[in-house]
Amino acid sequence: MDVMAKAADLEAKKGESVMHLEVGQPSTGAPLPARQAMIAAMDLPSSHGYTLTAGIVPLRRGIANHYKRFYGLDISEDNVMATVGSSLGFATAFLCCFDEGETIAMTNPGYSAYRNLMVAMGLKPLLIDLSPEDGWRFSRKHLDALDDMPDGLIIASPSNPTGVVMTRDELKGVAEWCDENNVRLISDEIYHGISFGVDTASILEFSPNAVIVNSFSKFFSMTGHRVGWMIVPDDLVDPMDRLGQNAVISVPTLSQIAATAAITDPDAISELEAHIDRYRRNRDILLAGLDQRLLNNVEPPEGAFYIYLDTTRVSPDSVDLADRLLNEAKVATTPGADFDPVNGHKALRLSFAGSEDDMHEAVRRVNAWMAEHCH
Ligand SMILES: Cc1ncc(COP(=O)(O)O)c(C=O)c1O
Repeated sequence: MDVMAKAADLEAKKGESVMHLEVGQPSTGAPLPARQAMIAAMDLPSSHGYTLTAGIVPLRRGIANHYKRFYGLDISEDNVMATVGSSLGFATAFLCCFDEGETIAMTNPGYSAYRNLMVAMGLKPLLIDLSPEDGWRFSRKHLDALDDMPDGLIIASPSNPTGVVMTRDELKGVAEWCDENNVRLISDEIYHGISFGVDTASILEFSPNAVIVNSFSKFFSMTGHRVGWMIVPDDLVDPMDRLGQNAVISVPTLSQIAATAAITDPDAISELEAHIDRYRRNRDILLAGLDQRLLNNVEPPEGAFYIYLDTTRVSPDSVDLADRLLNEAKVATTPGADFDPVNGHKALRLSFAGSEDDMHEAVRRVNAWMAEHCH
């Protein structure tokens, strides 16, 4: 967000054109059927009030059907809860499932909002270090090696920032370990649907006790609508609903209507699937084009829209590198410090959610900058 603000400043005050490889959001808008549903709903008074906290029934039913269609899983709409983005989903899950002082494990690198929110809520993050030699993969072996038993575990596959997609065996191993040890598992599946030739299984296939967090922000290309969802086990339906009533009352109604169309209309799904082909082409443009010293043997990410680079051949400090790339090459990137408080200064995250033209232009600018400054 800081980089985005600096980039916006360069654009607004100095009239510079910046290539945005920092943004963690699709450059496209909501699919056409979602926009049309929203426009049609605007004139109906019923679309301007609160809804049930758990969300409107067509949305929850549409989400339940999505699990049947995509994963072959039978989910009751009673276990589906709409949330204000997946952000409110994991915040609610943390509040509902844990008491002050309890520990939740997460991978390092990982999505920083998890640990920031944990700290703000008086919970303790337990960072599980992943290694680039292992291709940043996470599995049961990391959990077996823990000295202290956490109370919870939050995972994200595909991962932000590494783009790693856990295999079915890895997911199963982690789910089984959590059930064996009575550790509450939260699975952030926000990047499901964005993967390149590999399967993204839901953790629900392996544990009925897991809490699923998902969202309309990434595959559905609707970040600003702020609609997400959770699938929660029966014992959590009532507590989560009460917490939602007190925290937000309900999710924005027009956005729920748009989200319902996005997840139920086949035309919306085909429009969204076309974005995945573009993300794959964008990924390949960066991997084929960027200076090898920057790529530094990175494995092609299998999911999400990020490449996580080891930048040690180019700079000892990726915050400084990101600053120079922004100010001198006019390419915005995200330093790894956001995702890894220990080794993040050695890494940079590139997002390939933008247009193909922007990827080509970013490659041109970064390589020209490298040719001038890195010998
Ligand atoms: C792994 C992960 N989870 C959750 C979120 C939050 O998304 P939202 O609240 O828009 O659903 C993000 C956003 O980038 C993310 O990368």
